[in-house]
Amino acid sequence: MPILRSRAELRGALQSLPRPTLVPTMGHLHAGHLALVARAREFGAPVVASVFVNRLQFGAGEDFERYPRDLRRDAGLLEQAGCDYLYAPDEADMYPVPQTFHVSPDPRLAGELEGAVRPGHFQGVTTVVLKLLQLAQPAIAVFGKKDYQQLLLVRAMVEQFALPVRIEGVETVREPDGLAMSSRNSYLGAAQRAQAPQLQQALRRLAAQLPDCRSLQRLQAAQDAACDWLRERGWQPDYLSVRRRADLQQPQADELGRTGTLVVLGAARLGSTRLLDNLEL
Ligand code: PAF
Repeated sequence: MPILRSRAELRGALQSLPRPTLVPTMGHLHAGHLALVARAREFGAPVVASVFVNRLQFGAGEDFERYPRDLRRDAGLLEQAGCDYLYAPDEADMYPVPQTFHVSPDPRLAGELEGAVRPGHFQGVTTVVLKLLQLAQPAIAVFGKKDYQQLLLVRAMVEQFALPVRIEGVETVREPDGLAMSSRNSYLGAAQRAQAPQLQQALRRLAAQLPDCRSLQRLQAAQDAACDWLRERGWQPDYLSVRRRADLQQPQADELGRTGTLVVLGAARLGSTRLLDNLEL
């Protein structure tokens, strides 16, 4: 599997091929990423995975510097998974001049949940995704549903800018104990790792309360109780929130009883590791 280190090499490799399917990643790959590659392969076009730790989407004091990087390991996993090309630019190739133009995502979507806790995060994500789409010109790009809000924002950007790409979402891959696979799971010590499935359990507990939540006040109380449940176990929750799947806004009271339209999203810190997860209802 060729490793393309620059946009010139990427263009050269792809120029006479059908438009590829792109799997954008920040590396430190796990089975969740490999499921994205497996889905990408089903479309029959050449599969390009990108590995790039995008400084723009990290805030001050976040884990940009310590984000795990091991390109040889990632390349080996991608090759085994049947990926055709790895695009692994360095920062000078992705941002040869300082990125002074940015995507400005809709604050109603980008300012909520993750965006409220990590201001500017989705501007950084959408800017690099737009750039990756421009560079690789894929017909299809594949994203995981674990980053639920990211997936919605990418879809909205593609629609609003009429980008000629189809966005494919893939279900979250979980460890046997329910923990959503994430590159950041490797930050967890053994005791924290044993505790980590509690985030998914908290989402499930909250989801189980929903039939009793006939008003927004009761929903808020259930969300607060789910946060307390995590706090009692040593977590620092940022949010546990029931939202509409379509736009991640808060549901109206009459929407609470419906299935197929809501999602519970959660983010919480265990020690210095921040994990997120979601559960479609
Ligand atoms: O989901 C990720 O790993 C990143 O946010 C992405 C989409 C590769 C953009 O840097």
